[in-house]
Amino acid sequence: MKRVYSIVGGILLVVAVVVWWGATRSTSWSEAEISILRGLWIGNLPALPPDPSNLYADDLQAAEFGHKLFFDTRFSSDGAVSCATCHQPELMFTDGLPLAQGVGTTDRKSMTIIGTAYSPWQFWDGRKDSQWAQALAPLESAVEHGGTRTQYVHLIDEFYRDEYESLFGPLPDFSDPERFPASAGPVDDETARAAWNSMTQDDRDAVTQVYVNMGKAIAAYERLILPAPSRFDQYVEALLNDDKQAMQAALTDNEVAGLRLFIGRANCIQCHNGPLFTNNDFHNTGVPTAQGLVLDDGRASGVIKVLNDEFNCLSPWSDASENDCGELRFVTSEGEQLEGAFKPSTLRNVAETAPYMHAGQFTSLEEVLAHYNHPPVSPIGHTELEPLGLTQHEMEKIIAFLRALSGGVDAPAALLQAP
Ligand code: HEC
Ligand code: HEC
Repeated sequence: MKRVYSIVGGILLVVAVVVWWGATRSTSWSEAEISILRGLWIGNLPALPPDPSNLYADDLQAAEFGHKLFFDTRFSSDGAVSCATCHQPELMFTDGLPLAQGVGTTDRKSMTIIGTAYSPWQFWDGRKDSQWAQALAPLESAVEHGGTRTQYVHLIDEFYRDEYESLFGPLPDFSDPERFPASAGPVDDETARAAWNSMTQDDRDAVTQVYVNMGKAIAAYERLILPAPSRFDQYVEALLNDDKQAMQAALTDNEVAGLRLFIGRANCIQCHNGPLFTNNDFHNTGVPTAQGLVLDDGRASGVIKVLNDEFNCLSPWSDASENDCGELRFVTSEGEQLEGAFKPSTLRNVAETAPYMHAGQFTSLEEVLAHYNHPPVSPIGHTELEPLGLTQHEMEKIIAFLRALSGGVDAPAALLQAP
C-alpha cells in the first residue's frame, strides 16, 4: 500500500512540475520582452495621424459619400468593378487571388485596406503618398476599374450631385459633350487620351478637381476601417495586468512559443513591428518573381513614381503646405536597398488573407515560413534575409502564433457592406 502511495505521489509531483513549467514558460517574460510586446499591442496604436493633404480626411459626411463610391460598380468601364471587388470586407478587404482581377488581370496581389491610413506610403512599392491619391490610381487603371475621369464626373453629376455639392460646393456644368467628352482621361487607351488632350487646360482642371474630391471622400471612408483586437492583444493586456489566468485563456503554449520565436530567434519584428506589425518601410526579402511576370524592382521604381505623381503631397491638388510633406521631400530615392524592396504587409488577420506576397507567390503560411527559413537567391541578386535554421516544429509554432493575430475589423457594421 505504502508503495502505491509513493508511486501516486511521485506521479503527482511530476504532473505538478510539468504544469508549473508549462505555466512559467507561457507567462514569464523579461522586462525587455514585455516592452517589445507592448509595442506590438493594439492598445499601443496611436490616434490616426492627420492627413493635411486631405481637408476632408476626418469629415464623416465625406466618409459616407466615400463608402458609397467604394462599393459602386458603375465607376468602371464594364459596370461590374468597384473597389470592393478586390477589397472584400468578408476577406479582410482582400480577394483571395494571387493576382487581382478587375476588368483585366493586374500584376500584383490585392492588399488589405485595414489600418492602411497609418501608412505614409501606399501600394507594395509605395508609389502613392496618401490614401486619396492611391484611390485615384485603380479607377484609371486599364486592368482595374478601366474607366476615365470624364466618365466618372458625368456619373457624379447624374447620381451624386446633391451629395457632392453639399460637401465640395457647386459641381461645374459638364453637360456640353464637345467640351466634356463621355470618356476622356490621361489613360492608356488612345482614344480616351486623345479626347483628353483635345480639352482645354481649364476644362481638364475642372474635371480633375471633381476626380480628386472623389479620392478624398474614399480616403475619409478608409480611415474608419481599423483592425480589431485579436487573442494576441488579449494576451498582452493580461500580461500587463499580471493576470496569468487570462494570459493562458488568450494564447495556447504553442502560440506563446511561436510568439517567442517571432520576437526572438526568427527576428520577424525587424520588419513586422509596431501595433500593425509593419514598419511601413521597404525591404528586399528575395521573394521569387511570380510565374509569367517580369522582374519587379519594387520600391526602386515606386519612389520615382511617387516623386513624379500628379497627385502627391506637393502637387496643386493636395491641401498640404510644403512643410507638411516631409515624408516626400526627404524620401530616400536612390540606393541598392530599394531594388526589389516591398512594403512589409501588416500581419493582423494574415491567416485570412492568403495567398501571400506582392504577387501571391505563396499559397500558404507554411510556404511563407519555408521561404524565411531558407531564403533563396533573390531575383534582384541580393536579399536582406539570413537563413534561420528553424525546425519544422518551430515553424509550426510561428504559424500558430500568426493565426492568433486574427481579430477582424473595427468599424461600424454598416460600413462593412454595400450601402
Ligand atoms: C482589380 C482589383 C482592385 C481594384 C478594383 C481596386 N484595388 Fe486596391 N489594390 C489592388 C491591388 C492589386 C493592390 C496592390 C497593387 C500594387 O501594389 O501595385 C491594391 C492596393 C490598394 C491599397 C494600398 C494598401 C497599402 O497598404 O498600401 C489601397 C488603400 C487600396 N488598394 C484601395 C483601393 C480603393 C479605394 C479602390 C477603389 C477606388 C481600389 N483599391 C480598387 C487591387 C484592386
Ligand atoms: C527584412 C524584413 C522582413 C523580415 C525580417 C520579415 N519580413 Fe515578413 N515581409 C516583409 C516584406 C517586405 C513582405 C512583403 C514581401 C513581398 O511581397 O515581396 C513580407 C511579407 C510577409 C508575409 C505575407 C503577408 C501578406 O499579406 O502577403 C508574412 C506572412 C510574413 N511576412 C511573415 C513574416 C515572419 C513570420 C517573419 C519572421 C520569420 C518575417 N515575416 C520576417 C519583410 C520582412
